[in-house]
Amino acid sequence: MVKVHFHGHACFSLSTPEHTLVIDPWFTDNPLADLEAKDINCDYILVTHGHFDHLGDAVSIAKRTGATIIGVAELATYCANQGAKSHGMHIGGGYQFPFGRLQLTPAWHGSSVLGENLYLGCPCGFVIQLEGKYIYHAGDTGLFGDMELLGNKYPLDLALLPIGDNFVMGPDDAVTAAKLLRPKTVIPMHYNTFDIIRQDPYLFKEKVEAATTVKCEVIEPGQIFSL
Ligand code: NI
Ligand code: MN
Repeated sequence: MVKVHFHGHACFSLSTPEHTLVIDPWFTDNPLADLEAKDINCDYILVTHGHFDHLGDAVSIAKRTGATIIGVAELATYCANQGAKSHGMHIGGGYQFPFGRLQLTPAWHGSSVLGENLYLGCPCGFVIQLEGKYIYHAGDTGLFGDMELLGNKYPLDLALLPIGDNFVMGPDDAVTAAKLLRPKTVIPMHYNTFDIIRQDPYLFKEKVEAATTVKCEVIEPGQIFSL
């Protein structure tokens, strides 16, 4: 069983009996966060891109816990230079980790350290194979047609899709993404953290369940979805 714990925004912990992976660990100054960075224990930290609301507390958690940060090579090197253990990969590449196989997927977005003229490579998403389940975290991205390839390749059990609009897909494009990806379940993310990304996730649930056979689970920060 995989426990999918939502921490708010794009941050999730995926736990199995042996491993805990945290994706986009933004706790400090995250208005939606259910926990503080010091409460997090994990062995891997997956980071989709360099924006503060995703890279977040990755380095401090990695240094305290000894967890390995996984991201594109530029981001992984940036974290390693700050003393964190890291594993660099790149778009399209997969690797067999002790927890399972992980493949990096494209994402249409930026990846600078905002406010500094420093780019951490390209942004990405992740397909994570854990305990026989396939989980897709899209990262920050707009809709793209190659999501259909991911849907063809992987029998996705769960897709974590942004719906906030402005910086990422809005709800209508996320419905199209769900059509292309064909996961069993979708959980919306990256909304209501800031006024500019305010959305009604239940309206998204209505739309996606009317247009597809995908089930939508709206979960609040602090809630756990098991699959
Ligand atoms: Ni971003
Ligand atoms: Mn973001």
